[in-house]
Amino acid sequence: MSESREQRWSLKGMTALVTGGTRGIGHAIVEELTAFGAIVHTCSRNETELNERIQEWKSKGLKVSGSACDLKIRAERQKLMETVCSEFDGKLNILVNNAGTTIPKEATEFTMEDFSTIMTTNFESAYHLSQLAYPLLKASGNGNIIFISSVTGVIAVPLCSIYASTKGAMNQLTKNLACEWGKDNIRVNAVAPWIIRTSLIDSIEVQLIPPHFSVNCYI
Ligand SMILES: NC(=O)c1ccc[n+]([C@@H]2O[C@H](COP(=O)([O-])OP(=O)(O)OC[C@H]3O[C@@H](n4cnc5c(N)ncnc54)[C@H](OP(=O)(O)O)[C@@H]3O)[C@@H](O)[C@H]2O)c1
Repeated sequence: MSESREQRWSLKGMTALVTGGTRGIGHAIVEELTAFGAIVHTCSRNETELNERIQEWKSKGLKVSGSACDLKIRAERQKLMETVCSEFDGKLNILVNNAGTTIPKEATEFTMEDFSTIMTTNFESAYHLSQLAYPLLKASGNGNIIFISSVTGVIAVPLCSIYASTKGAMNQLTKNLACEWGKDNIRVNAVAPWIIRTSLIDSIEVQLIPPHFSVNCYI
């Protein structure tokens, strides 16, 4: 094999959209992809935080741009993909559906608004973004979708019946899209982490989860 390891493990020239890249897992994914040479676009609702992150990345020499958008809103998802399309010349290699949220409650306590917020942020937006990205992923000739799922989509954890349902749905969607879009050279995978200390976790009570339980799934 004549190529160096750096050449074999390179994303040079690849384009990526990572949702929710300002904090936590999404932030780490943005940094990892750019370190491998990809050009990344990310998004979040908090424009001030987004601009701060973009300045930090710029000062490190990483190629990251961003859009302030609320993925709960269909029109904002469409606008995001239009921006990505024009920035990346109609071709996208990697879509990471990472942005997500939860509200910890007993199943009897959830309101209609809670249901809508969690479902729309975690599942509907990831589904719709995948639809919107499809022509761009296909045009790249080498497309990838990665859903950031959760172990809660596989096992039962307290206080997260809606969140867990969005992740279970995401796991199934991964399989369906992988079968439907494989012919277009689009790979579809899901990563299902267990607990990673981020702002999402800091915002909820984690004492209910057995500390010895440690699982990471790659679906
Ligand atoms: N941390 C864990 O232990 C864990 C375990 C399993 C799975 N996961 C999954 O991993 C993913 C990332 O979680 P995290 O822990 O890194 O969360 P986090 O620290 O709360 O970060 C979430 C990111 O998503 C953005 N975001 C949230 N809602 C959004 C919306 N409506 N529109 C646009 N951007 C939005 C946030 O920015 P703004 O708030 O400014 O919008 C932020 O950049 C989620 O899908 C989560 O379910 C996390």
